[in-house]
Amino acid sequence: MKKFPTLTISNHPLIQHKLSYIRDKTTSKKVFKELVDEVGTLLAYEITKSLPVRAVQVDTPLATTTCHVVDAERVVLVPLLRAGLGMVDGVLNLIPNCAICHLGLYRDHDTHEPVTYYFKPMPEPEERMFMMVDPMLATGGSAIASADLLKKNGAKNIKFMCLVAAPEGVEAFQHAHPDIEIYAAALDERLNDDAYILPGLGDAGDRLFGTK
Ligand code: PRP
Ligand code: URA
Repeated sequence: MKKFPTLTISNHPLIQHKLSYIRDKTTSKKVFKELVDEVGTLLAYEITKSLPVRAVQVDTPLATTTCHVVDAERVVLVPLLRAGLGMVDGVLNLIPNCAICHLGLYRDHDTHEPVTYYFKPMPEPEERMFMMVDPMLATGGSAIASADLLKKNGAKNIKFMCLVAAPEGVEAFQHAHPDIEIYAAALDERLNDDAYILPGLGDAGDRLFGTK
């Protein structure tokens, strides 16, 4: 029996290769962002494998055939600000027509509790697939609060994609939201006393936006 049944770790060699450079403290801001985008694209490929498709008739130059398309407008990307913004371009490479629903929250430095400062709900939430993206799942507080908010506003189908997850965060998130699948590039060892992930990659927001 899996300890974390809702967690999928992608062991794809390219994801693991790129994550190694993302973790490296000597990686420049420019390369860090490029790699976060690339891993975002690769993880999005995995997370979207169960998207529903719709049959359409297509005229090729030679014949008419039945093809299958995704209703991209039904997919809603939910970047958890700020650091989640770093994964948006990567997902848009695959699903350029998806909607984007920004959710602003930060983790209070002393209490580590999430503080929400921006959210604009989507219309017809029950008919959409929400894809929350944030590089880090540490205590789980930010992701849990985000999923709470989406559900309160009617979302029924939510998935969560991150780069690095801590066992503490996965445990808390799956306890709060056992219906939401988590896709991550790595499950790390633990949190330190400041609730940073070890070995982790440091502060994702600061490295993406050069704020340290
Ligand atoms: C980071 C990260 C997550 C959160 C994870 O954001 O991007 O949102 O911390 O920690 P948690 O699982 O313990 O809640 P932060 O609060 O540093 O804000 P930022 O994205 O604006 O840098
Ligand atoms: N937020 C980050 O950016 N990094 C961590 O390790 C934990 C929370």
